[in-house]
Amino acid sequence: MLDNSVAPNVWYINDRRAMEARPISAKEFTDVDSAPEANHLLDFLIKIDEMRELSEIRAHTFQDIPSGMGVDIGCGAGGVVAELTARGYDVVGVDASSAAVAQAHKRFPHCRFMVGNSYRLPFGSGSLAWYRAERVFIHLSDPVQAFAEAYRVLAQGGRITLVDPDFDSVVYSSTNTPVTRAVVRSMADSIGNGKAGSRSPQQLASAGFSEISTRIIPLTFTDLDTALTTLIQPSIRTALEGDAISHGEACELLDELTGQYLRGAFLASVSMFITTATRCR
Ligand SMILES: C[S@@+](CC[C@H](N)C(=O)[O-])C[C@H]1O[C@@H](n2cnc3c(N)ncnc32)[C@H](O)[C@@H]1O
Repeated sequence: MLDNSVAPNVWYINDRRAMEARPISAKEFTDVDSAPEANHLLDFLIKIDEMRELSEIRAHTFQDIPSGMGVDIGCGAGGVVAELTARGYDVVGVDASSAAVAQAHKRFPHCRFMVGNSYRLPFGSGSLAWYRAERVFIHLSDPVQAFAEAYRVLAQGGRITLVDPDFDSVVYSSTNTPVTRAVVRSMADSIGNGKAGSRSPQQLASAGFSEISTRIIPLTFTDLDTALTTLIQPSIRTALEGDAISHGEACELLDELTGQYLRGAFLASVSMFITTATRCR
């Protein structure tokens, strides 16, 4: 349904609307190296790093990190690893994508990065003091296996910190409820673990973790461009690809949200779940 044949890197809905760049597809983060445009995905991660609202959420997670060696799993383009290194943490960034790790090395040559998969990590049992993963479990088709592996690599007393949305918590200010619901549901269902934020606490408990605690922080978009790039366009693309909405409905939704923004009445938000737990035994 999407017509990318007209010009590369331009995304069209019908002939009425062209966007500067093709929206990312969230499900491509499951296997970045196999994505048609891996660099496009990594540029997207670097752009997201600049979001003030996300930095504030991140700052909460830094408070939970103990001393000792730890890992940022699914480190992407390496921004968080660089921040943690600058704060004096002993951290290694790990990502399943060799393109992501190469990009992270290039951006932050003074930091440590390695290719590795959350399902089978290149660390000995009980060797790590902490484990952090931000917007990674949402992409995992087998989070239970990843939690078992996290439990294995953590030492007794080791801490795990996760940051993930539950994509069913997305809110747009559109008055077209059926179309908005279809768009939100498509996004939640299209990726490996779309409800990761709300599912992780019970999965951590089943994996043997204790002292589980969750904070929910709304990530509220005040800037239309950021909201379009990071949330709305990817969701609409997913809904169009799944035939959940028509081209006309996509255009109407975008027109309505843009109009609301121009009148100062636009709202978009998603709940981010920060969950921490301890390997007590
Ligand atoms: C949405 S990005 C988040 C990147 C980073 N945490 C950040 O905050 O910018 C998800 C990352 O997880 C990585 N990833 C996906 N599945 C993985 C797995 N099974 N093991 C390790 N990394 C994985 C992807 O390659 C991608 O870099």
